[in-house]
Order: sequence, then structure tokens, then C-alpha cells
Amino acid sequence: MSKESITVIDNRTGEKFDFPILQPTLGPDVVDISSFYKDTGMFTFDRGFTSTASCRSKITYIDGAKGKLMYRGYDISYLATKKTFLDVAYLLLHKELPSEEKLKAFQFELKKRSYINESMKKLFDAFPDNAHPMAILSSAIASLSAFYSDSLDMDTPEEVMEMAHRIIAKIPTIAAFSYRYSQGHPVIYPDLTKGFTENFLFMLRAYPHNYIELKPIEIEALDTIFTLHADHEQNASTTAVRVVASTQAHPYAAISTGVSALWGRAHGGANESVIRQLEMIGSVENVDKYIAKAKDKNDPFRLMGFGHRVYKNFDPRATILKKLRDRLVDELDIDSHLLEIANKIEKIALSDEYFVKRKLYPNIDFYSGLILNALKIPKEMFAVIFVMGRAPGWIAQWIELKEQPDMKIARPRQLYLGPDEKTPKE
Ligand code: SDX
Repeated sequence: MSKESITVIDNRTGEKFDFPILQPTLGPDVVDISSFYKDTGMFTFDRGFTSTASCRSKITYIDGAKGKLMYRGYDISYLATKKTFLDVAYLLLHKELPSEEKLKAFQFELKKRSYINESMKKLFDAFPDNAHPMAILSSAIASLSAFYSDSLDMDTPEEVMEMAHRIIAKIPTIAAFSYRYSQGHPVIYPDLTKGFTENFLFMLRAYPHNYIELKPIEIEALDTIFTLHADHEQNASTTAVRVVASTQAHPYAAISTGVSALWGRAHGGANESVIRQLEMIGSVENVDKYIAKAKDKNDPFRLMGFGHRVYKNFDPRATILKKLRDRLVDELDIDSHLLEIANKIEKIALSDEYFVKRKLYPNIDFYSGLILNALKIPKEMFAVIFVMGRAPGWIAQWIELKEQPDMKIARPRQLYLGPDEKTPKE
């Protein structure tokens, strides 16, 4: 037994059970209860895994009380202001920030893979025009396993990195194509002379033979948004990716599962819901009514973009986005009407006892929507933007899980409350 342990006493029998305490680099100590069922014959119960560490990880650290976020030891505010999204994607995949030369090589690997198989376009045709882009994206990513069926077993680091490059490079093209199809517009193919983020905006907004002028601030704003979304330790969609990866399913299935899990409005779908909620509230005069609804236990209405499982302080990403949004007010046409409503909600919620007591602060989604709006990105594409940012994080988490020698298939137990045996006796 490690010198540091915790003792559990079953008060019914007086039996004592010791469980080792594992020391993290940062954050709370962890009690290893892997042998709890074997030792005690009992399960533990933890609704929503609020107190459960599901894995060992070296990728991202969050201090929810301090509102701190680090990727591979680098603070998010340093990465968001001093580095590009591709720097951060490289950092997540390779554990260190790239040199100028390595960044160029990484960008080239992505450019080479930014086109999709032409026959994938039939997939877009199969969807109705009003299909949500997240439905198309999750299907298209899963279909990559059919187009690259020769390399589903990732046995070598080279095969893994090939998959990583493919997914990161193709998601923007799939996303842009799915939007263009939904609008009945011709698709714009990747322009390999452009950078990653600029190219996506170009594929989304340009027209054939009609080069649009993108403002540098637009590219910088979207690149920052991608960086802020790049990873976030064991959130719901990353947990979904890890669960699928633990079954030895191929990575395209795991990442496609992540897309589907992220789509939920309690998770990555919240950015779209924030804008829809601001539009529904409609005026600053209505804000008080909706704040009251959010506080009413009998009303299912929740303030989208507020609250977080881990942050019980300001989400550091929200702080960065708020500054960016306020900077963009003059440089881009941020919807002033929606901004006025958002500011009123924020002002009231941050001083209202209901939100203060529950430590409900604005999260990343409360601010990202208005910026994406100003970048002329349609609401239904907001969660897709989240996916484009999160893809390198999901892949890094997938790689880390695969590298763990004692990786086990995820298979939780349950607190069974169903009927006792009632099979009729023969
Ligand atoms: C993301 O996990 C991650 O890291 C996710 C993410 C990432 O980068 O991957 O950060 C991205 O998903 C951000 C969160 C986006 N979702 C939203 O903005 C949706 C609105 N927020 C809530 O649904 C909620 O706050 C969650 C889902 C974010 C967190 O839920 P928890 O941790 O399970 O908290 P809870 O439901 O137990 O709430 C605690 C209390 C409850 O009241 P009481 O029962 O204690 O009286 O706070 C209340 C809740 O009713 N509450 C809210 C509220 N959020 C929580 N009340 C009104 N409005 C809200 N938004």
C-alpha cells in the first residue's frame, strides 16, 4: 500500500479498506479506487462523474477555482495572444511548440490533405438542404473510414500522424462544403496559397472567380477562437472520444462520436443557443423576465452560455473572448442590439444572488456567438467552428489513451433500481 492512502470504513461491519492516494503534478489529489469493487464488493456512485478522474493525462490542466487553463503547460492567454492555432494544434499533438521550420512543415502536411475525395460530395447531396451541418460533419468524418479503409489500424506513429493530419485538414473543407451545399451555392475548393484559418473563411464566403477581401482582424479573431477551443481536458465530448477509442474502434469513429456529443446544447451546441436565446429575448426590457425564468426551479429555461462543471470563476477563455469582442465592436459589425441584451444579462447575472451562490459565470459560449455572427458565420455553423478548434485536442487525447500500456475498455457499472426477479417459475 502506498504510504499515502485513504481508509474507508463500512459502518455496518466495521471493516476497513485502504485505497492509495495518487499525487498529481497540479490539482486535487486522486484516490485510486480501481480495486474498490474487488476489495469491498460494492460500487461507487458518481452522477455525471463530478468527482471522478477517468484517466491519467498530461495534455490540459484546468484550475476551476482560479479560472486557469493550460495546454501542455502553456497558459491559454499566452497561446491565444502570442501563437497561432496551428502552433497550438502542433503543441497538442507533439507535446512542444513548433519551430518556424516545423510549423511550415506541419502547415504543408495539412495543405496536402485539405482536399476531400470528390465522391464524398455525393454525401452532401444525400442530405436535405435544411440538414444541420453537425449532422453532415459527423457523418462525413465517419465516412473517412470508408475512403481510407487501408489504414484503419494505427500501428505506427507515422500512421497516427497521417490520420491526425487528414482529420485536421479535411474538417474545414467538409464544413465549408456542407454549408455551401445547404445554401445551394457552388463549393469553393481549398486555396493552398492561403493559411489554415483564412482558407476556411475563403471557402465559406467566396464565390467562383470572385475573390473576397478578408480583413486581417477577421482571420485573427477566428484563429483565436480556434485556439480557445482546442482542448479542455475530460469534457463530455472528449470522454466520448476516449470511450470509443477504448473499444479499439478506428479513430474516425471516435472523432465522429466527439462531434455528435459536442452538438448537445448543454455542451458545444451552447454557442448557437446563446444567439438564439438573445434573439428570443428580443429586447433589454425582457431580460429581467428571462433571468427570473432561469432562476425558477420549476422552469426548464436555462441561461445559455452561463455555468460550467469545472469553472467556478470566470472561464479564462471567456475573459479573452470578451476583450476580443469589445475590440471588434469598432472593427467589425458586432450586432449592437444583441450585444446590448448580452451586456444586460451579464450585468444582472454577475450580481444576482442565485448565480453568485452557484458560481455561475459566463463561459466561452456566451461570447463566441456574437463574434462568429460578426464574421458572417451562420448560427448553425457555430458548433462546427467548435469542432474545428477541438479536433487537435480530441486527437491528442486519442493518441494519449492509445499510448497507455494499461489502457482498459471503458465499462462503468450501475446502481440498479429495476424490478427484482419476477420470471414465472416453470
Ligand atoms: C462547454 O466541460 C467542459 O469543459 C465543456 C466546455 C469545453 O470546452 O469542452 O467548456 C464547453 O460545454 C461549456 C458549457 C456550455 N453550456 C452552456 O452554456 C449551457 C448552460 N449551462 C448549463 O447547462 C450548466 O451550467 C452546465 C451544463 C454547463 C454545467 O452543468 P453542471 O455542472 O451539471 O451544473 P448543474 O446542472 O448541477 O447546476 C448547478 C446549479 C443547479 O441549480 P441547483 O440545483 O443547485 O439549485 O446551477 C444551476 C442548476 O440549476 N444552473 C443554472 C445554469 N447552469 C447551472 N441555472 C440557470 N442557468 C444556467 N445556465
